[in-house]
Amino acid sequence: MPETQQKHGEIIISVENLEHSYKDFKAVDGISFSVKKGEIFSFLGPNGAGKSTAINILITLLAKQKGTASVAGFDVTRDPQKVRESIGIVFQDITLDRDMTVWEILEFHGRLYNMPFEQRRKRIEELLNLVELAAKRDERTKHLSGGMKRRLEIARGLMTRPKVLFLDEPTIGLDPQTRLRMWEYIKGVNSEGTTIFLTTHYMDEADQLSDRISIIDHGRIVISGKPWELKNTLGRDLIYLETNNNEAAVRFLKDLPSIRNMKVKSKGFVLMVNEDGSKVLPLIIDTLRNAGIEISTINLKKPSMDDVFVFYTGREIRDEGHAKTSFRRAGGR
Ligand SMILES: Nc1ncnc2c1ncn2[C@@H]1O[C@H](COP(=O)(O)OP(=O)(O)OP(=O)(O)O)[C@@H](O)[C@H]1O
Ligand SMILES: [Mg+2]
Repeated sequence: MPETQQKHGEIIISVENLEHSYKDFKAVDGISFSVKKGEIFSFLGPNGAGKSTAINILITLLAKQKGTASVAGFDVTRDPQKVRESIGIVFQDITLDRDMTVWEILEFHGRLYNMPFEQRRKRIEELLNLVELAAKRDERTKHLSGGMKRRLEIARGLMTRPKVLFLDEPTIGLDPQTRLRMWEYIKGVNSEGTTIFLTTHYMDEADQLSDRISIIDHGRIVISGKPWELKNTLGRDLIYLETNNNEAAVRFLKDLPSIRNMKVKSKGFVLMVNEDGSKVLPLIIDTLRNAGIEISTINLKKPSMDDVFVFYTGREIRDEGHAKTSFRRAGGR
């Protein structure tokens, strides 16, 4: 299987103890991680976590202050030009010239990178098909929808067949359906052999797309792993309970053998269980009934990436409307 071979291959991005401060504010606070060739790797974190700062150092847009970082075998400080030649970039904010057509955007980019005429023409056709913009080739970018602009930016990022494509919040502000399509394009690009490094604050996006994720908060990586590994750290199932005496309930339940961990919420509490939750439920209900505690709500579910995020950062991440995210302290609502 070429895909698995590829994904277990060499390291293509390597970062150690990276730090970055704006004046005396530390935006990136000593992060270390590596990305393997052929992977889709994500930074998942809320607004202001330091995702763009880290990505901007890797793409050589921001000068590195502390630590080491290399992309495609080249050090970002010693060989910035070589790094730039190895990568494609899609920025968080749209950066298309509004009056240029779809074709012109790609053609101009190809010329900028000295691609020969025939090669440019062929690559543009391939990419227009890949991102389904062939019908819009002569449209000015100001007349494209938000999703189309994103797709065009991805195509532009791929013109030079980069080894690594950096996507900073690729689906921000897009409607749910367009986001799903965008994931398909990103997977398509990845299956062409391109390593993908993306940042997102969408839990489901990181979960669905990534081979591996690092959750980043306040400039630090709080946990890294494959999506299922991260979810598994919370146990096999989660049981949410509300009772007439949560404090007592927690005391009675905490020593049951299948309970891995518990977390108190504002109105109830969550039990993380090591086995099939539906098999543990009768025991939980009996234990509480025998203790004279009344249950008002029971909810059984599989751990999601949201649960992972809340567990490791103590906060919820919420998408409100389009581009804005806010979070609130767990228990503080
Ligand atoms: N040029 C700058 N000057 C001063 N502070 C900055 C600058 N750029 C970013 N910051 C601060 O550094 C922190 C990290 O910002 P960064 O843009 O890296 O976060 P992010 O994770 O990409 O957030 P978002 O999800 O909103 O894009 C924030 O507190 C931000 O205000
Ligand atoms: Mg950002």
